[in-house]
Order: sequence, then structure tokens, then C-alpha cells
Amino acid sequence: MHIHEAGAMHGDFASLRPGWLGVPDDVNALLPRLWANNVARSDDGVVRLGGLSVADLAEEFGTPAYVLDEDDFRARCRAWAEAFDGADVFYAAKAFCSKAVLRAAVEEGLNVDVCTAGELAVALAAGIEPYRLGYHGNNKSPAELRQAIELRVGRIVADSYTEIERIASIGAELGIRPHVMVRVNVGVEAHTHEYIATAHEDQKFGFSLADGDAYEAAGRVAASEHMYLAGLHSHIGSQIFDTSAFEVSAARLVRLFARLQEEIDEPMADLDLGGGFGMPYTSQDDPQPPVDIAASLGKIVQTECAAAGIGAPRLSIEPGRTLIGPAVFTLYEVGTVKPVKLSAGASRLYVSVDGGMSDNIRPALYDASYSATVASRSSEAAPALARVVGKHCEAGDIVVKDEFLPADVAPGDLLAVPGTGAYCRSMGSNYNHVPRPPVVAVRGGQARVILARETVDDLLRLDVG
Ligand code: LLP
Repeated sequence: MHIHEAGAMHGDFASLRPGWLGVPDDVNALLPRLWANNVARSDDGVVRLGGLSVADLAEEFGTPAYVLDEDDFRARCRAWAEAFDGADVFYAAKAFCSKAVLRAAVEEGLNVDVCTAGELAVALAAGIEPYRLGYHGNNKSPAELRQAIELRVGRIVADSYTEIERIASIGAELGIRPHVMVRVNVGVEAHTHEYIATAHEDQKFGFSLADGDAYEAAGRVAASEHMYLAGLHSHIGSQIFDTSAFEVSAARLVRLFARLQEEIDEPMADLDLGGGFGMPYTSQDDPQPPVDIAASLGKIVQTECAAAGIGAPRLSIEPGRTLIGPAVFTLYEVGTVKPVKLSAGASRLYVSVDGGMSDNIRPALYDASYSATVASRSSEAAPALARVVGKHCEAGDIVVKDEFLPADVAPGDLLAVPGTGAYCRSMGSNYNHVPRPPVVAVRGGQARVILARETVDDLLRLDVG
């Protein structure tokens, strides 16, 4: 048994919180970059989105609920499309996948990246034309590949020799020649503020650049009469703030691109740098604007292409989190509040809400940090160090590990957690048979449900005895 000794964690108040979390001057203040554009606390102390109060939203749609600022999402899509003018921006559907959101992304000029038949089905149900879709993943089944080829999706990203063979034989059988990109494992692994650039990266995706597999795979695709080699694809990680990681990756890709261009008959056009651009979850995170990211990536690609004596390829990127993440907050109702005494007179306020790890697994899975505010009112009370936890039967069911909330936070208060648009609903579960919350979109001051609340009946329907 692991016995936790009384130590730093149980010491004085200051040592209970992480170094980055300062005691707020005003516990009601919202840090603008953590919240969607149209969210603000009004003079009456209530948080509103596009003028709609969280109290009204909770009354109409219930809690917990994911609340999407659709105007904000659309503005982010436009900002990335404009910053990467001349390139293709694919919205990574895995971050959050619903008909309304995929349709909005396309209406704002983006393409969509899917990686399973399920995500593809949503895109098709949203009326998105298959040529606007990229299809990747490391284990696309023969049925999935057949469907993608029949539909003539814009690009299929091949991830293994097995897939290359499958695509060729399905293409031959159907008499369709799909556009295939080769996923390159560039040896750059990036997470948050750090990255490592090695020759080899020990993970399941792509063909190794260092081993010559990427070169070999691209050659095989180019040589096949059943596929077009459309270009090279990469993705180096998640929540990346350091553009130098992308620069190293882009430089390595361009060198391979140039070598292949010299040797193959039909030149490739596309270079995809993947997604992974960081978004702010807490005051620690301050990402660069897309124009700056586009400028530094464009420059490195141009420099490398000039050095290699080739024209610049058409760039593409696949952001998910940075587009949808900040556009959503989760609205919970506080159920219980419990001060838990720790040593040296310090205590932590455990605030239980009506959701938890089933609507946001990221704190439990990645130790991800979030922030929170009491949204239904402002408070004059002093800040108290709090931990927002869910209703699941698991000690690791944490929604916000460290946050200052007003000391008078009480049952019935509404609590909002910003930055929950990406990988929360899409990675949601039914643990403890808790149905998944709805997604409510607010556009132009009007709210509508775009993804309905799951019910216990929905879950029972699958339980066929
Ligand atoms: N393109 C490819 C090929 C990817 O694998 C991913 C994410 C993306 C684009 C989008 O990355 P984004 O811009 O959203 O960071 N569930 C984890 C992240 C896993 C992402 C996997 N691939 C999380 O909650 O952080």
C-alpha cells in the first residue's frame, strides 16, 4: 500500500497550490483568453454568453451542459484560414465532432479531417462534400478504406505498408485512383512547452524518416498505377506552444519532399504539418496568434525549399483543439461543498459538481489543468483554495485540480469551466451510467441544442439482457 507521508502536499496553504496559481485579487474576474469571445460577467454578477445568462441556460437545458459560443468558433476558423491563406486548414474532427460544428467549419472555409467511419458518417450527414475530407488513422479497416475510395475523399493518409497494399488493391478493383499522402514519423515529439527532436520516435504512427521507410513508402505509392502520391503528412504532438518543434519537423519533411520530387515522375503537391497547436486552459498558457505561427512556418518551409532548389509545396495543417477548445465552457451545478482539513491548519475546499470524469476525462488521463468560476453570481467572499470534483465513484474524478473560488461557494451555485470544447465530449464516457451532457450552441444571442442530452433510457436501450 502506498502511504502518503505528511509533507509538502500537506503543509501550509502556499504549498497546497501549484506555483503558477496566484491568489486572485478579484475572485470574480474572468481571464479573457480562457473564455470564448462573447462570454462576460455582467454588472449583476452573472456570467453571460451573447447576452444569455448561465442561469437561463441552465434552466432551459439543464446541467451539466457544454455551452458553445458558435460565433467564437467561427471567428477562430476564419482567423486560422486567413492566417494560413494559400494553405489548407483541416478542422480535426476528433476534437469535437457534430454535424453543426463540422458544417460551421466548412462554411468558414475549412476542410475536415476524419479518422474513422464514425467521424466520416457525421461529416457526410452534415452534407460535407467528400473532396473536402482528409482521412487518416493508423488502422483503417479494408471496409473504411473502400468507403473512402468509393466516395473519392480528398486525401487518404497511408500509415503502413499494409494500408498501401490495401489502398492499391481496392483502387484497382474499383478502377479509382485515390490521392494518397504518406504519414511520416519525423522524429519530433512535442508536448506543451517542450519537444524532443531525435532520429527515432517510438510510437505507432507513420513511416520512420530516419530508417528510410518514409522514402520507401512514398516511392511505392508514386510507382503504383492505382494511387497518386499527393504529398507527405506529419503530426508531432498535442498542446504545442513552441513553434520551433514545427520548424524542425517542417525542415525534415521538406528535405524528404525535395529528394522525392527529383526522383518521381508525377510531382507531389502537398505538405501537411498536422495539428497540435496549443490553447489556453489556465493562466499558465499564452499561445501565439495564428498569424505569427503561419509566418514562422511559412518562412521555414520557404527557406528549406530554396536551399533544396524546389518550389514551395502547398501547405496544410489540422488544428482541432485551438479552434473548438476555447469556444466551449461546461456548465455544472454545485451539489456539495466540503472543506477537507490537511495538516498545519490548511484545508482544501472540495466542491462536487453534477458531472465529472465522464464529461471530461482529461484531468484523470493527462493530469490536465483547468480553471473554473462561480458563474451564477459574483461574491464578496475571500478566495479559498478549491478542488472541483465530479460525482463518480473514483478519487481521481477531478474536474479542476487547483483553483481559487469564493469561500462562500455553495450547493446550487452554477460553476463554469472554460476551455472544454476539445476532447471532452468527444472522449466522454458513461462511467457509472452517467449520461453524457448536451451541447448547446449560442449564435447571435440565440441558443439551440446541437447534440442532445443522453438519457438513462438511451443507455438501457443498449442493455438487451
Ligand atoms: N491531426 C492528427 C493527425 C492528429 O493525430 C491530431 C490529434 C490532430 C490533427 C489534432 O490535434 P489538436 O490540434 O487537436 O491538438 N486526446 C488528446 C489529444 C490526442 C490528439 C490526437 N491527435 C487530448 O485530449 O489532449
